Amino acid sequence: MKYNKITPEILRTFQQIVGAQYVLTDKYDLEPYSHDETEDLEYYPEVAIKPNSTDQISQIMKICNDNMIPVTPRGAGTGLSGGALPIWGGVSLSLERMNRILEIDVDNMMVTVEAGVINKVMQDELEKVGLFYPVDPASKESCLIGGNVSENSGGPRALKYGVTKDYVYGLTIVLADGRILKLGGKTLKNVTGYNLTQLIVGSEGTLAIVTEIILKIIPKPRYRQTMLAPFDSLDKAAKALTRIFTNKIIPSAAEFIEKAAIKAAETKLEKKFPYSDSEALLLIELDGNYPQLLEEQAERIGEICLEGGAIDVYIAENEEKQAGLWDMRRKIGEAVKSIAPYKEEDTVVPRGQLPALVQKIKEISAKYNITTISYGHAGDGNIHCNIIKTDITEERWEKELPLVIAELFTEVVKLGGTISGEHGIGLVQKKYLHLALSETEIELMRQIKAIFDPNCILNPGKLLPD
Ligand code: LAC
Ligand code: ZN
Repeated sequence: MKYNKITPEILRTFQQIVGAQYVLTDKYDLEPYSHDETEDLEYYPEVAIKPNSTDQISQIMKICNDNMIPVTPRGAGTGLSGGALPIWGGVSLSLERMNRILEIDVDNMMVTVEAGVINKVMQDELEKVGLFYPVDPASKESCLIGGNVSENSGGPRALKYGVTKDYVYGLTIVLADGRILKLGGKTLKNVTGYNLTQLIVGSEGTLAIVTEIILKIIPKPRYRQTMLAPFDSLDKAAKALTRIFTNKIIPSAAEFIEKAAIKAAETKLEKKFPYSDSEALLLIELDGNYPQLLEEQAERIGEICLEGGAIDVYIAENEEKQAGLWDMRRKIGEAVKSIAPYKEEDTVVPRGQLPALVQKIKEISAKYNITTISYGHAGDGNIHCNIIKTDITEERWEKELPLVIAELFTEVVKLGGTISGEHGIGLVQKKYLHLALSETEIELMRQIKAIFDPNCILNPGKLLPD
């Protein structure tokens, strides 16, 4: 790539646009912008810029486009596929200061936010007025809505409520050359032309910078039931889960946690969790407005789990216990990763194929004699399979890891699934994209990228294979 370095003159222009204190160049100040939550990868930008408005971003993009300077947009840096890593240096463009909730429109059930609003901050504001934004990635306490949109984030409640894309109705974006566009709006229906709004959702910062977002919101369900069912095998847990759906119950979340993952969380949090010695746990949540119906459904789920071989069924009796279980679940990713170097996969299959996926993971892990620890959104068929570098040599790790991943992905695709459900392709999965998409699909994506960003300055080196 023929990118240019940032000259002192360009740097001064950035300072004039956003204010000198929001243009960082010292190595120490740049450290937080050199990594996200993806493995131990580290790439320093030349400069991190923290603009405060769409107009400032537009000015910055124009300069970068005219001068062939790469720009990597950044939310909170909680991403798991390397999307926010500035691999070509240049500008790390942080949305963190654009953190205003602009409007909660109750009549239209829409909220308008800047891209830098923290997911949980918005959720809390909405809940104060009885409203609900259900998409809750594990990192909700720090991740930004703009990042959620760029990655099309999911999370446990996707099972009943869908993922980020299902709530995005309008966007303000800045194109690579600095032009500002408003896409979509507050209308629930809109078939006026190609759906560019949804093209931007999940485009991982490669097509445009998202600066404002209009999201659909819904009334907050009044009641919640959270339950835990321990099993003595992964397979039994996966099959019991399938039977919950054939009984026509849709929980708001159905998570699956393997023993080693729960043990890792216990170590990390220095806390004991119920049934942590069983081979697999199902963590199931129901929500709704009719407590009696919820109780009936919880009872039925309990019966199904017990019929399917659950050792017991535990119902969290109050909000504090519910919150404790979810806190443990949200910390699992971090806990598993603290065991040893790792590679985290985000495989997803049609829900009914979950038992087959669990089986395949075990077979591949045995074949290569490599440790895997799995947990995730079983109700969505979305398993986070962490391949852990325990006591194998560096040489074997380097040589065999790509083989393990390629085999896993090939099997996932055979099961009708795909290689990432919610973490994105970013830097670390792009070389496997061809296992999931046809040459024609990848070529069309390249052409779309070239239309939006002809100089390839927006998050270069991500999503599309080299
Ligand atoms: C989770 C993240 C890793 O589900 O997606 O914990
Ligand atoms: Zn997840």
